[in-house]
Amino acid sequence: MKKYGIIGYPLSHSLSPQIHNLAFQTLNIDARYEKIEIKPEHFDNIISQLKSEGWKGFNVTVPFKEKIIPYLDEIEPVTGKIGAVNTVKISGNKWAGYNTDYIGFIRPIEKDLKRIDCALIIGAGGASRAVIYGLLEKTNIKCLYIANRTKSRARQLLKSLRNSDEIKIKIIDLAEINSIEQPVDLLVNTTNVGMGSLIEDTPVKISKKFINSIVYDLIYNPKKSKLLRLAESLGCRTINGFPMLLYQADESFKIWTGKHFPDKVFRTFLG
Ligand code: ATR
Repeated sequence: MKKYGIIGYPLSHSLSPQIHNLAFQTLNIDARYEKIEIKPEHFDNIISQLKSEGWKGFNVTVPFKEKIIPYLDEIEPVTGKIGAVNTVKISGNKWAGYNTDYIGFIRPIEKDLKRIDCALIIGAGGASRAVIYGLLEKTNIKCLYIANRTKSRARQLLKSLRNSDEIKIKIIDLAEINSIEQPVDLLVNTTNVGMGSLIEDTPVKISKKFINSIVYDLIYNPKKSKLLRLAESLGCRTINGFPMLLYQADESFKIWTGKHFPDKVFRTFLG
């Protein structure tokens, strides 16, 4: 039996095992997908241990999407540009890194891409890198705001982005978002504020200014984060992270098995 898993912390709410195991079962693939919860302080030791255990592939989630990179033997070129890995494929002893998050992120907003001129991204970690890459590749965006608790991390992210004078990019404080002058077409929360121990928190307090914005929270558990509830109460269109979870998982599955998810997986989870 082939072994796959998800590496992250915390993982108690992860739905990835249910999704991948249903796909393996439906396609009669002799494989199993498990949670591998690693406390950040044990990351180095556990990864070295995993290297000798015969795994075939991993998904990588918070907070390890950037941290995993030095442990890889190769990295797909697009993933290298993004600077964050959410999928590892293991062939023999070789670990190869990919990013399927940016594809998953784009799928639920495909119909809206042409009308996104200005976006505000909350967070500057691995998920934020994939979201920003997706937006720069797939939209004709003209302005981009990045709001992060730690501004230096946002500056670091900015340095590695495609440089284009046509796009106005600005780093701001979380508290400054309501002072943005342009209309923001899309606001994306890429932080974990709103889930786990932070379930009662919201990364930003949005005002009526965002009434015409699509508010997209990558969090899928809870289904409606506090940010999405606030956005709904203002009358904004909202999207949670569930479709993205499913589409990025489908792309990871394709990298590992050469096959997309069977329809049953989409029917079961998207309804
Ligand atoms: P991922 O790989 O999933 O993006 P990450 O790289 O650990 O995870 O990034 C987490 C993001 O959530 C970061 O933008 C982080 O802000 P910092 O760069 O300041 O650490 C943000 N974040 C985490 N906890 C937060 C909190 N309590 N308040 C505000 N932002 C938070």
